Amino acid sequence: MRTQVAIVGAGPAGLTLAHLLHLEGIDSVVLEARSREYVEQRVRAGVLEQGTVDLLSAMGVAERLHREGIVHHGIELRFDRRGYRIPLTDLTGRSITIYGQQEVVRDLIAARLDTERPLLFEVEDVSVHDVASDRPAVRFRYEGAAQELECDVIAGCDGFHGVCRDSIPAGVLTTYSREYPFGWLGILAAVAPSSDELIYASHERGFALHSLRSPDLSRLYLQCAPDEDLADWPDERIWEELHMRFELDGWALHEGPVLEKGVTGMRSFVVEPMQYGRLYLAGDAAHIVPPTGAKGLNLAVADVRVLAGGLVEWYATGDTALLETYSATCLKRAWRAEHFSYFMTHMLHRLDGDPFDAKLQRAQLEYVCSSEAAATSLAENYVGPAYVG
Ligand code: FAD
Ligand code: PHB
Repeated sequence: MRTQVAIVGAGPAGLTLAHLLHLEGIDSVVLEARSREYVEQRVRAGVLEQGTVDLLSAMGVAERLHREGIVHHGIELRFDRRGYRIPLTDLTGRSITIYGQQEVVRDLIAARLDTERPLLFEVEDVSVHDVASDRPAVRFRYEGAAQELECDVIAGCDGFHGVCRDSIPAGVLTTYSREYPFGWLGILAAVAPSSDELIYASHERGFALHSLRSPDLSRLYLQCAPDEDLADWPDERIWEELHMRFELDGWALHEGPVLEKGVTGMRSFVVEPMQYGRLYLAGDAAHIVPPTGAKGLNLAVADVRVLAGGLVEWYATGDTALLETYSATCLKRAWRAEHFSYFMTHMLHRLDGDPFDAKLQRAQLEYVCSSEAAATSLAENYVGPAYVG
């Protein structure tokens, strides 16, 4: 087998890259370890920056997104049993759209299949080879048979636990990371959202987030231990805890059947550079943010937009200038998102530090809720840059 770009991973990064390349007449093969059903059902992100929506629209894959996505113009910060609205659109001119990551993935898979270019699910034993040469290759097993895919370039879009990053020789990458001493317990509940906008609640019992997926699906999270055992959290306990953390006079949290439950650890992680030879890392394969800033999916899409631009220029003219700056361009945006996600995480979670930290946290919360300058800074980061990339 031979292609121009071998793409490892069919998450938001890999699928967006495949379609951007297709639109420019560049051939690719997408290799995904999981089944189509699995990737289409995996519940993850829900907040799309306007730049992400604009890019998906320009790619012609946003018809359902425009029909079913819910545009939001503000978020609420809640603490001390009071709510403060951050009017995102008034402050920045931009909005966010609520549309589940698995819906984005579903739309991109449908678009890919329509192109009749290859997208292989359930590939096994993926390994990348000769990336320091100009004839790299990916080896894998598909339907029981060993395969070798020769290509010009490999895009490592295989997420945090993928194989691409680890195939880069020791000493090339520098890793920056931070583990947080907490995680999020998330549920998807079959009940109308209790609020029209997202609520980020800081409470002495811990952080909680109210989000949604549709007019009849609520998505809720609560801060827990990073290794929290779900067996200790029957549905009644989850609701009881959520009621306490969101408590506000005149406001009620709606309960409904819990359809999905999971615990996610939280970390910040970046590797530099995001490229080695003919291997380019994109999305979670190169950087992870804690979800408090709602940035991960948006960063993944932003990376591959830059990568696609570089590849298009290279194939058209032989000029490698944009590919050479790929890593630096993406890292600049990734580090801004790292800082914002760290800032939101620290401002909102219960930190078991000393009382001094708690006082600083409170001062910061009061500042963003009382100063238009501070609220604008939060809003500008939350909605993301005006243009992707
Ligand atoms: P992934 O989505 O991880 O895709 C990688 C793909 O590669 C997967 O399909 C995987 O199966 C496949 N793969 C792995 N190894 C191999 C292999 N060896 N061979 C072939 N394929 C392989 N982000 C936001 O922007 N907004 C949010 O609101 C938000 N909320 C989140 C909430 C939660 C609970 C979680 C967990 C994450 C959230 N994120 C959010 C982050 C977001 O989900 C990720 O940043 C995003 O999925 C990154 O996309 P990706 O394509 O880089 O990686
Ligand atoms: C979500 O809806 O899943 C979601 C929303 C905002 C976040 C993280 C996750 O910050």
